[in-house]
Amino acid sequence: MQFNEKGEPITHDQAVPAKESRTCGMRRRTFFIMLIALVIAIVVLGVALGVGLGVGLKKDSDGDNSSDPYCLDHPELCIGGALDANFYSKQGAFNGTGIALAGESWNKDQRRIFTLYFQHHTGDLRFMQYTTDRQWIGGTKSETVATDAKDSTPISAVAYALNHTQYFHLFYVSKNNTIRQMTFNNDTSIWQPGPLSGLNLEVFDSPSVGLQACWKGNFYGDSDYSKFPTASGQANEIPFDERVGMNLWYASDESTFEQYAWYNGQDMWVKLNPWQGKNGHAGVGCYSWGTGTTTYAMMVNKNNDTEIWWKDTNTTTTSEDSHPINSWVNSTDAAIRGVYPSTSLGYTTYFYAQMADRSVQGFNITYSAENTTIEQDDTFTITDPGGPVPGLGGTHLTCTAFAETQMDGNVTKTLWDSLYVFYQTEGDDITAFTRPIAGGEWTKGSLKIPDE
Ligand SMILES: *[C@@H]1O[C@H](CO)[C@@H](O)[C@H](O)[C@H]1NC(C)=O
Ligand SMILES: *[C@@H]1O[C@H](CO)[C@@H](O)[C@H](O)[C@H]1NC(C)=O
Ligand SMILES: *[C@@H]1O[C@H](CO)[C@@H](O)[C@H](O)[C@H]1NC(C)=O
Ligand SMILES: *[C@@H]1O[C@H](CO)[C@@H](O)[C@H](O)[C@H]1NC(C)=O
Ligand SMILES: *[C@@H]1O[C@H](CO)[C@@H](O)[C@H](O)[C@H]1NC(C)=O
Ligand SMILES: *[C@@H]1O[C@H](CO)[C@@H](O)[C@H](O)[C@H]1NC(C)=O
Ligand SMILES: *[C@@H]1O[C@H](CO)[C@@H](O)[C@H](O)[C@H]1NC(C)=O
Ligand SMILES: *[C@@H]1O[C@H](CO)[C@@H](O)[C@H](O)[C@H]1NC(C)=O
Ligand SMILES: *[C@@H]1O[C@H](CO)[C@@H](O)[C@H](O)[C@H]1NC(C)=O
Ligand SMILES: *[C@@H]1O[C@H](CO)[C@@H](O)[C@H](O)[C@H]1NC(C)=O
Repeated sequence: MQFNEKGEPITHDQAVPAKESRTCGMRRRTFFIMLIALVIAIVVLGVALGVGLGVGLKKDSDGDNSSDPYCLDHPELCIGGALDANFYSKQGAFNGTGIALAGESWNKDQRRIFTLYFQHHTGDLRFMQYTTDRQWIGGTKSETVATDAKDSTPISAVAYALNHTQYFHLFYVSKNNTIRQMTFNNDTSIWQPGPLSGLNLEVFDSPSVGLQACWKGNFYGDSDYSKFPTASGQANEIPFDERVGMNLWYASDESTFEQYAWYNGQDMWVKLNPWQGKNGHAGVGCYSWGTGTTTYAMMVNKNNDTEIWWKDTNTTTTSEDSHPINSWVNSTDAAIRGVYPSTSLGYTTYFYAQMADRSVQGFNITYSAENTTIEQDDTFTITDPGGPVPGLGGTHLTCTAFAETQMDGNVTKTLWDSLYVFYQTEGDDITAFTRPIAGGEWTKGSLKIPDE
């Protein structure tokens, strides 16, 4: 069976267009032009269908029905329907869905642990919430955030509470390949386009692109704040210490990531220096909410290695060759080699990446600027009792960790804790993997995603 670009089956009669058509009433010359055009059309059709036409149309379509010609040459950089229209999900999640998660540890009253954003098989971006009773709610049409997302868009989410207001930001790529920001706060309780949408930033036009927004909790001495002009037009001299903001990276071509930053209280994003020589198909990781003054960003290079870059913003420290201040430096002792070329990256407690064999591995990174290392004995593969559970090639992934605690007199007791990792193993699924933080076996389960 063959399928057209919408995934509908094509019968044999339709696949070979009407041969007996319209000779009558046509001028001879028109007829011959038409005939030549028809022959060319059949040849093109024959090429497009591969051996399908010659051998008959019975065999199952496998890869010879590409919706995107780029994917024929680069299958490892494509996922789902971009490879074969037959792979578009008919239920559950979009095949190749972006998966983003925003933790809400500050959200004590609402008993929500986190919100997970994904692309529904209908193409809409929706969310589901995981409660402290360990139940999933939502994912229906009423939890729709956006309807103009491109197929398999990367999604990134940032959430925080500030000044007695909860803020949620969702970033994704639109059908016309521009960056979109949707924001929500619990005062207005509606999703609205954020200031980044207004910039219409153009994203690398490819079936797989990197995009990551990262909450930034420590601006001590960060020279980037001076890039925000004040109302008077002068460079900003107010340090953003103890303020929050966001960094955002997205691929603008095959090997470049653009970086934008936003600070609370500013109604705009500013462009920072782009990152060159990276793999624009792969994801971006970040860690910028720890104590101390160093921020980390992770990107994949052209050798399928994940690089870990750091930037220290403590201007009280003297800049040295081995430890410059306010510039990005490669942690040369801490690369992760042999990742899947369009791997997604995520960090919370452990750093996760998809490896060349499509398995997902967790790494324990010791963040220490130029001395950043990976604890070799603490690297693990996500498994079920049957062994490693590979993801779809290029699956998006997200992760978090959570501990439920209780005060026992003046002592905080942990009732339970867990690592959470989400990725796709089938195409219409979002599969959750959990494990106690200290170690133990992984448990695997599929999220129940409403079909409507
Ligand atoms: C999703 O796409 C992948 C290719 O990326 C394919 O192997 C898989 O079978 C598809 N899943 C479904 C449910 O069609
Ligand atoms: C905090 O919220 C109050 C009331 O909504 C507002 O007046 C004040 O300016 C806000 N402060 C900051 C720092 O945003
Ligand atoms: C992209 O589409 C959005 C609406 O989805 C529109 O507002 C925007 O102007 C478009 N941008 C370009 C560059 O066409
Ligand atoms: C929004 O959330 C904050 C923090 O959780 C809470 O203090 C505030 O009352 C909420 N506002 C509304 C309008 O619900
Ligand atoms: C990166 O990985 C892809 C797929 O596994 C492979 O085809 C390619 O040769 C690798 N590139 C390098 C430089 O090793
Ligand atoms: C910056 O570095 C100085 C000197 O090493 C140190 O005393 C200070 O605590 C650091 N500042 C911050 C915010 O970490
Ligand atoms: C960054 O460091 C890693 C690990 O040493 C190395 O493989 C990679 O080539 C470096 N990248 C750059 C741009 O120097
Ligand atoms: C990671 O390794 C460090 C150093 O061995 C250790 O202190 C830390 O607990 C490990 N992290 C986790 C989550 O186990
Ligand atoms: C890195 O290690 C060197 C040598 O042990 C040390 O002098 C330096 O202070 C360390 N840097 C950091 C940021 O810990
Ligand atoms: C906790 O409470 C116990 C008695 O209830 C007391 O002896 C102890 O000093 C307290 N610890 C702290 C750190 O306050």
